[in-house]
Amino acid sequence: MNLRISNSVIYFFGALGGLLFGYDTGVISGAILFIRKTLHLQAFGQGIVVSAILIGAIIGSAISGPLTDRLGRKKVVLAAALIFCIGAIGSALSPSTGVLVFFRIVLGVAVGTASTMVPMYLAEMAPTRIRGALSSLNQLMITIGILLAYIINYVFTPSQAWRWMLGLAFVPGAILFIGMLFLPESPRWLLKHGNEQEARQVLNHLRKGEGVEEELSDIKRTNELEQGGWQEVKAKWVRPAIWLAIGLAVFQQIIGCNTVIYYAPTTFTEVGLGSAAAILGTVGIGSVQVIMTLIAVRLIDRVGRKPLLVAGSIGMSLSLFVLGIANAALGKSAATGWLTLICLAVYIFFFSISWGPVVWVMLSEIFPLGIRGVGMGIGAVANWAANLVVSLTFPAMLDALGISTVFIIYGAMGILALIFVIGKVTETKGRSLEQIEFDLRSRVSET
Ligand code: BGC
Repeated sequence: MNLRISNSVIYFFGALGGLLFGYDTGVISGAILFIRKTLHLQAFGQGIVVSAILIGAIIGSAISGPLTDRLGRKKVVLAAALIFCIGAIGSALSPSTGVLVFFRIVLGVAVGTASTMVPMYLAEMAPTRIRGALSSLNQLMITIGILLAYIINYVFTPSQAWRWMLGLAFVPGAILFIGMLFLPESPRWLLKHGNEQEARQVLNHLRKGEGVEEELSDIKRTNELEQGGWQEVKAKWVRPAIWLAIGLAVFQQIIGCNTVIYYAPTTFTEVGLGSAAAILGTVGIGSVQVIMTLIAVRLIDRVGRKPLLVAGSIGMSLSLFVLGIANAALGKSAATGWLTLICLAVYIFFFSISWGPVVWVMLSEIFPLGIRGVGMGIGAVANWAANLVVSLTFPAMLDALGISTVFIIYGAMGILALIFVIGKVTETKGRSLEQIEFDLRSRVSET
């Protein structure tokens, strides 16, 4: 193996799957307005087209975890890139609703796979000191993908060209596939599968020779203790990690992030803004996400994961409570519309420095190497399933309860999330993946 590419290129392509995750989930909010005209969709049909990707993502994250423990990180990402390309072309050319739903599910499989593989690959390549920053490049790419989708939607809105909106995702899919061909396999997976020589080469390249032998022997030591496979998943000492993963994954969704990201235009028109202001507001929300995630990348290894989650939960809850109370007190008016926009921007500000990046980073850190894929898959399935429930129930809740009550409920979930973080989350900043694994084992054997 001859590695000629620089580390930044490795981390860029390693994170690129996140961009497709963001683009493919974000693009539908604008495209659906025109799809429903061409394909004559009623409300139910629209709901199915929008949520098909989430169903696919549940499938993708369930199968990619066990697959990657066996086949490696690189092959599974390559497969996902291919599926991204097929899904983009297939959904752009769909002649009927059935075909479109099928290809959106196919795309979902790739999105679910990217959601487990990208943060894990980055975490396993990164040096401990900046592991949080490098794994949160995944979230940065997701938010850039969402913003890109909002902008493409805006550009194609006058021509109502939804097929272009969906089809353009082929381009980053193809770039990801080509880029991945040149990337190395994760050194941790290589060592787990007995390929010490290649693992050493990759680590030497990534670390410029520094501390490589120590890192290799730490990984080997944890490998010796592991059994791997389902035996390990069921082991008592792994259970706290599984519950932590499920808790983080589910709370990320039930605090309502995607009601803002997927439904921002609906919410803005609901509270009295015109459609031009609603689209502009949505692009504004997308931009706040990218900028704040950039800041999170810089903060995550300095401040730590847990303080960010605490601050984020408090900020998000407060902004939703203000939004709920203001709407109840003031009723529908332009002033309420603008106040709602400000509250949602503040909410996204806090989400983007906390629950957005931190959840995927921590999911990739808390499991032992032998079952990292399966463990991450369990967290990701929980995340996508909770996403599906929230996205499907949000419009009906808005109709039945009104905007104030709905957002006050999500605000209350933020308080529960805060209690969960304070009670259950252990900081992972500054500890190597191997130290985290040792600590997990010793904590349970002490009890
Ligand atoms: C979440 C997604 C969300 C995205 C947007 C991710 O961390 O898992 O559900 O759409 O962030 O910021």
